[in-house]
Amino acid sequence: MHFRLISRTDAPALLEFELANRTWFESHIDARPPDFYHLAGVAAHIDDILARHAAGSMHPCLLVEGDGTIVGRGNLKDIDRDAGRAEVGYRIAASACGRGLAGGALRHLMELAYGQWQLSRLDAHVTIANAASARVLERAGFTLAGPSPIKALVAGQRLDCLHYRHFADSSQQALQHDT
Ligand SMILES: CC(C)(COP(=O)(O)OP(=O)(O)OC[C@H]1O[C@@H](n2cnc3c(N)ncnc32)[C@H](O)[C@@H]1OP(=O)(O)O)[C@@H](O)C(=O)NCCC(=O)NCCS
Repeated sequence: MHFRLISRTDAPALLEFELANRTWFESHIDARPPDFYHLAGVAAHIDDILARHAAGSMHPCLLVEGDGTIVGRGNLKDIDRDAGRAEVGYRIAASACGRGLAGGALRHLMELAYGQWQLSRLDAHVTIANAASARVLERAGFTLAGPSPIKALVAGQRLDCLHYRHFADSSQQALQHDT
């Protein structure tokens, strides 16, 4: 199992991963537009996120098994190097859940953020219904900062979200206040 940057050649395997898990993801997080779910849609998505990576605003990664099967994704999004912050996001195949993969992906994202990108803080937004994701964040040392301004649309229902936060400097974590 390894965690690596996405590439253009991943389009067919990524389409397979997203199609196989579409119902699973749509029961937890915002649905993707229908035109995403074909090869051209996924190729355009990869081009977009690699352009964001080149521009320094995103770090899009895949969690891949030894045989090349994609089992998860993890991203740093909205990287703001001036403010020293980014948002984390991840999704794991339904068949691969409960094995610590999201926790491992999050640790990789934290290493990238605080090492390669030299950021000082990470944010995450989780629906109030997503106890497993909240657990993943808490186990990695994220703490609840308060209600999130973001609302998710999950299976036709508008859900409130919670804002979690983590600081590279653990003394900031103890002192955190919502800003
Ligand atoms: C949320 C998600 C990423 C978790 O992936 P995972 O690989 O199963 O996560 P891990 O195995 O690393 O850890 C899951 C933790 O949640 C716990 N958990 C699972 N279901 C739970 C539930 N219903 N209530 C409370 N805790 C739960 C597990 O016991 C585990 O905690 P532990 O390590 O203390 O035992 C995965 O379910 C997923 O991709 N869901 C759909 C997309 C999504 O919700 N993405 C996150 C958006 S913020």
